[in-house]
Amino acid sequence: MTKKPGILVTGGTGYIGSHTVVELIEQGYDVFIIDNLSNSHAEVIDSIEAITGVRPGFGNIDLNNKSAVQEFLRIHKVEAIIHFAAFKAVGESVEKPIEYYRNNLVSLLNLIEICKENKIKNFVFCSSCSVYGAPDYLPNDQFAAVKPAQSPYANTKKIGEDILRDTSSVNDLQVISLRYFNPVGAHPSAKIGEYPVGPPLNLFPIVTQTAIGKRSQMKVFGTDYNTPDGSCIRDYIHVVDVARAHVVAIERMLSDKTKAKYELFNLGTGNGLSVLEIIKTFEAVTGVKVNYECVPRRSGDVEKVYADTKYANTELGWKTTHTLENMITSAWAWEQVLQKKSMATSK
Ligand code: WQD
Repeated sequence: MTKKPGILVTGGTGYIGSHTVVELIEQGYDVFIIDNLSNSHAEVIDSIEAITGVRPGFGNIDLNNKSAVQEFLRIHKVEAIIHFAAFKAVGESVEKPIEYYRNNLVSLLNLIEICKENKIKNFVFCSSCSVYGAPDYLPNDQFAAVKPAQSPYANTKKIGEDILRDTSSVNDLQVISLRYFNPVGAHPSAKIGEYPVGPPLNLFPIVTQTAIGKRSQMKVFGTDYNTPDGSCIRDYIHVVDVARAHVVAIERMLSDKTKAKYELFNLGTGNGLSVLEIIKTFEAVTGVKVNYECVPRRSGDVEKVYADTKYANTELGWKTTHTLENMITSAWAWEQVLQKKSMATSK
């Protein structure tokens, strides 16, 4: 099979990044990863090789170190960049705004300049439904107003999109921004999954850690929202479906099918599910009880948000294929792998 072009995946040892690297390799792309391992593990490279039989190139580089990125790309030629590398916890960003703005925005500005200097013309930006804030209408389509960000994390995504929209209009850069809803679950091989360095802050890994006994109890942040059961509603989407959307976006750009210099797609399932529904469905699917306590709301949370997927389905030609059950069973299988890993290292 003729080798397809080289693709740089920043944050490629991270959660969505590693799943995207697997899908790109399986489609024949020559994949290179830059990651500073601030929230991921180098062993993910071994796992990617174990799944695909191919070991992606890897640079343990911080994107704020522009010359190191330049040197890496002098050796590894790429035609496109998929930019995942960013701090991503909504709640944490409220407590650490400076770190979030510096890390997420300086790295993006460096990459855009590098694209110009290296004549890299294709850029996929990992954005987020959190730019919609508390949406005026649901389901959320890509035309929905971008609201004042409810957290510094969301603001870095909003500002990132604006930077890319402005720069793509005056130079050769073709950009596709993908606004994720809530990526969850793990690769069916259970060789990769959500594997943060520190304790996770988002719902699914907290549910599975509680179920496996790593946590004695989890908190449900707010049951007084204006939703059927009072808990927040989100659009949970399988990480492999999210990863596959990136391959579709790359192919759209490399085959010149884009219709504007800056394109934008929502990546969701279109189904909104509450926190309590997730917990109850997890218990029903796995047969494992989750011990939780209902506590006051978490700052930065919006009440409900879920995607209108029509445009991504028709224009991008991408549809989700994984069910909520796949999301739960794959997340649970991965949690059990993590437990074995931690038992092996604690011996
Ligand atoms: C979901 C719901 C919490 C933990 C995510 C990503 C973020 C971005 C936007 C992509 C909320 C509740 C959580 C817990 C809980 N995605 N919760 N107890 O805030 O929607 O943000 O989507 O860019 O990167 O993290 O996700 O999983 O933190 O919260 O009750 O212990 O679960 O209050 O209602 P969020 P989350």
